[in-house]
Amino acid sequence: MGSSIGRLILQKPGLRLCGAVGRRKERAGSDLGAILGLEEDLGIRLSADLEEVLAAAKPEVAIQATCSRVSEAHEELRSCIEHRVNVISLAEEMSYPWHAEASLAQSIHELAARRGVTVLGTGVNPGFVLDYLVIALTGVCLSVRSIRATRINDLSPYGPSVLRSQGVGLTPEEFERGVEEGTVAGHFGFGESVGMIARALGWKIDRIEETRRPIVSRAMRQTPAVVVQPGRTAGCEQRAVAYCGAEPVITLVHPQQVHPHLEGVATGDRIEISGIPDICFESRPEIPGGLATTAIAVNMIPHVLAAEPGLVTMADLPAPAAMMGDVRDLMATRFAGRAKGALR
Ligand SMILES: NC(=O)c1ccc[n+]([C@@H]2O[C@H](COP(=O)([O-])OP(=O)(O)OC[C@H]3O[C@@H](n4cnc5c(N)ncnc54)[C@H](OP(=O)(O)O)[C@@H]3O)[C@@H](O)[C@H]2O)c1
Repeated sequence: MGSSIGRLILQKPGLRLCGAVGRRKERAGSDLGAILGLEEDLGIRLSADLEEVLAAAKPEVAIQATCSRVSEAHEELRSCIEHRVNVISLAEEMSYPWHAEASLAQSIHELAARRGVTVLGTGVNPGFVLDYLVIALTGVCLSVRSIRATRINDLSPYGPSVLRSQGVGLTPEEFERGVEEGTVAGHFGFGESVGMIARALGWKIDRIEETRRPIVSRAMRQTPAVVVQPGRTAGCEQRAVAYCGAEPVITLVHPQQVHPHLEGVATGDRIEISGIPDICFESRPEIPGGLATTAIAVNMIPHVLAAEPGLVTMADLPAPAAMMGDVRDLMATRFAGRAKGALR
């Protein structure tokens, strides 16, 4: 994600890439051009020291693409905030950090507000498909009884660490044990998506039931990272149901597996809103995760520069849009010169 975001920033008029941090010490000092797979040097050295980069490069915005949890993200966030740098984080839990870590979220919010910068968590999911898009679609409803959103995607492009966390290749018994022991973690983000939707619609959620079950393959499925024999697990079907009292109001379904087409499963995103009016919205195949996350991380830069200081979610900011013009013109027109810092 970090590399593809870096390459996209280089293509956007008005943005200047001014520094990069990676933790592997052996890569520190390499030119960022080589790290991003470009033919030319960029004159920017990859550093293993975040504090040093923040002090020397003085960025307006930092993009964090290193981790999934608030507890892993918050120290880097604090460093950026202390240097008065706005942050866009891809950590799944940062999309609605009050769900997993309410007190850390509050302290990040207070620090960001004091330092006059904005912190946003975003991504494709959580951050867009199963929450932001759902919220936007309810904007044309007189009332909403319940929401069901499904994202079916293909895990085949992913490497061993993602496949392990989804239990791919395990026997169904090993999968169930992995769920109990926490090694089959599945998708992070249902609680965050539910929290974002519920806050936007004004629903009070009393409980969320989350389940993970193995998708047992009937066919042999193979990727560069794994071979799944028939009878073994091709992926994880994860589901969350959020209740207002006894009423199930939000159902999120996210089956992820390698080569779903081998058993006739088409990938896609589907949002069904039961209300006045009923709404059904579908994208086939699914909105591609890597490209969409890269795009939204960069497209939200002007939004974050123009936002009130503090910790915000996608639902708090103006609608995201592809950034096709010069970001400085966008700040002057769409955001009416409201930018914090040098782009003002
Ligand atoms: N919300 C969403 O929709 C969404 C979408 C995509 C990704 N994500 C999340 O965003 C994160 C990045 O995704 P990814 O696919 O790029 O993951 P990845 O392939 O695991 O890459 C993470 C990179 O961050 C580096 N890193 C880890 N800790 C660091 C630190 N403290 N300082 C500097 N660099 C550090 C790692 O270094 P090494 O190479 O040395 O290990 C690695 O290069 C993941 O946690 C992922 O779950 C969220």
